[in-house]
Amino acid sequence: MPFGSFKAVLEDAKKNGYAVGQFNINNLEFTQAIVEVANEEGAPVILGASEGAIKYMGLEYTAAMAKVAAETSRVPIILHLDHGGSFNMVMKCIRAGWTSIMIDGSHYPFEENLTLTKKVVEACHAIGVDVEGELGRIGGVEDDLTVDAREASLVRPEEAKQFVEATGVDALAPAIGSAHGHYIGKPNLAFDRLAAVRDITGVPLVLHGGTGIPDEDIRQAISLGVCKINVNTENQSAFTDTIRAVFDKDKNVYDPRKYLGPGREAIKEAVRTKIRLFGSAGRY
Ligand code: 13P
Repeated sequence: MPFGSFKAVLEDAKKNGYAVGQFNINNLEFTQAIVEVANEEGAPVILGASEGAIKYMGLEYTAAMAKVAAETSRVPIILHLDHGGSFNMVMKCIRAGWTSIMIDGSHYPFEENLTLTKKVVEACHAIGVDVEGELGRIGGVEDDLTVDAREASLVRPEEAKQFVEATGVDALAPAIGSAHGHYIGKPNLAFDRLAAVRDITGVPLVLHGGTGIPDEDIRQAISLGVCKINVNTENQSAFTDTIRAVFDKDKNVYDPRKYLGPGREAIKEAVRTKIRLFGSAGRY
């Protein structure tokens, strides 16, 4: 089938209390693994492509690969720009075939983030492209924030209301203390903020930094309005650890299929675990 609708799969997740996985793609093996397991599990999936990954794979290659993945799938597959940094990048992706995008203006002051996101939503909605915005700052685990800095990075519910109403975003990623990468300690999610943002905005919410969040926290986040969860690092680690083990066992391997194949299988199992945890299995 053609690309699925970002808005439709998130609305279904919101109505039925589960979350759709956004699994980031870094190469062909990631794309194949994610789409294969989505079909085996009957789960919709969002393929996230960051600007870095697009630069690595090539804009047209990324779009073409995801398009074939969707066309050969019986479950909805969506190609999503992850953390799009500019209006120009959004336009490039749409021209190449993307049907949903994230505009991340969270490194700008609130008003500037709102203005940029509104401009992107106006352009995207005019041509049927769905938009995710970000509010507060979702950093990396390496940021190691002080208590005050953490507080300052978290979403403010009253700003979230203003932001959603003014921009018209289809989904919102509120910063609630999750981070990208492997957590050093136990993540400390601000569930009270999440609940307040859900109550005040009503839009599907997105949890970034899905790697390493304990299962019970994932379930609680879903119960408080999270409809989309982003995972990348965990799949990267599964892929790389498996390839490393192949080399450790046999230093003379030279055929890429002999190590990329097992790497792809490892991603499949990591994604399967997440799909089941998120409650998205058997929905399609
Ligand atoms: P992780 O790499 O921590 O899983 O986060 C992925 C993400 O949030 C992409 O936007």
